[in-house]
Amino acid sequence: MKPRIGVLTSGGDCPGLNAVLRGVVLAADKLGWEVIGFRDGFEGLLPPGSYTILDRPSTNGIMALGGTIIGTTNRGHFVAKIGAGDRAVVAAEVVEQARKVLQDLNVKALIIVGGDGSMTTALQLQEAGINCIGVPKTIDNDLEATAMTFGFDSAVDAVMDAMDRLHTTATSHKRVMVVEVMGRHAGWIALHGGIAGGADIILIPEIPFDYDKIASAIKDRDARGEHGTLVVVAEGAKPRDGQQVKRDIEGGEFRLGGIGDIVAREIAARTAKETRSCVLGHLQRGGAPTTLDRILGTRFGVKAVQLANEGHFGSMVSYQNYQVRHVPIADAVNRLRLVPPNGELVQTARDVEISFGD
Ligand code: F6P
Repeated sequence: MKPRIGVLTSGGDCPGLNAVLRGVVLAADKLGWEVIGFRDGFEGLLPPGSYTILDRPSTNGIMALGGTIIGTTNRGHFVAKIGAGDRAVVAAEVVEQARKVLQDLNVKALIIVGGDGSMTTALQLQEAGINCIGVPKTIDNDLEATAMTFGFDSAVDAVMDAMDRLHTTATSHKRVMVVEVMGRHAGWIALHGGIAGGADIILIPEIPFDYDKIASAIKDRDARGEHGTLVVVAEGAKPRDGQQVKRDIEGGEFRLGGIGDIVAREIAARTAKETRSCVLGHLQRGGAPTTLDRILGTRFGVKAVQLANEGHFGSMVSYQNYQVRHVPIADAVNRLRLVPPNGELVQTARDVEISFGD
């Protein structure tokens, strides 16, 4: 009987997960491992184990598909993180049940594809004696210890596409269009999507904004004859002395959303311009992965299997200086990679007359 590698996808879905799974299967096949995919994230590890054999036929042609063929969840028994930096502990009996399921299935290594919260859980499983390898995933691109995660490029592409569409309607109507994008703690999606989509104002969590400054940037544009304005706001952005706009808490992290409408209202009140807002929401997470995400996902999947094969347990695949390497999972946990407010990218945005409302 071949030794087995287990793989699961955890947290919010994102484009490129299936490219990882395909990469895992092909690399494992080459090295003589059998792969089993646990369904619906860590929940698949609960007794008696919910899984499917992943092989060449079952992963053939999946690379172009969004989402994950084995399912995922950012809720459930294994949620080990509630909010930024607040560590919740997975119950010891749940970890023990998972260990037993893996042992009974002859799984020698478990590849966990997920973000910050999933890596926190992975660390706990590793500490409990389960051989874990992490693969970093999040559209927010805010995971520490890797220069990039797959899924981010596809999300930025969706924002850019939306901006291109909104640009023509904004200029035709001489309106302000406010687009709310994802990004809980980090403004990478808003910043990249905003620059690529020709935004005039970008609001990110790392740079608290001032409504009067936003209004004056819009009035300056009007005075120059530029009557349509595009504003991108990350869901986690907040005004100086203000709070993030939260919807609710649903058995895990709180949900953000609603800041776009508020920003639009405040702009209309201060400029008397027609202002509309739209929320891109999960449109940014669905659909086919971009070229970059397919390649990055494939490279990450292959590397994860090689790490398992070499016994580098407790490590996470990491992208550094154009190379796929590995770091301890612990390096990626509880330390978010935020946009440096005085960094080159923000400065470049300012140099092309993008305002951050500060
Ligand atoms: O962390 C990724 C992310 O897409 C965030 O940007 C967003 O706040 C969250 O997931 C949304 O999660 P859910 O799918 O539970 O609404």
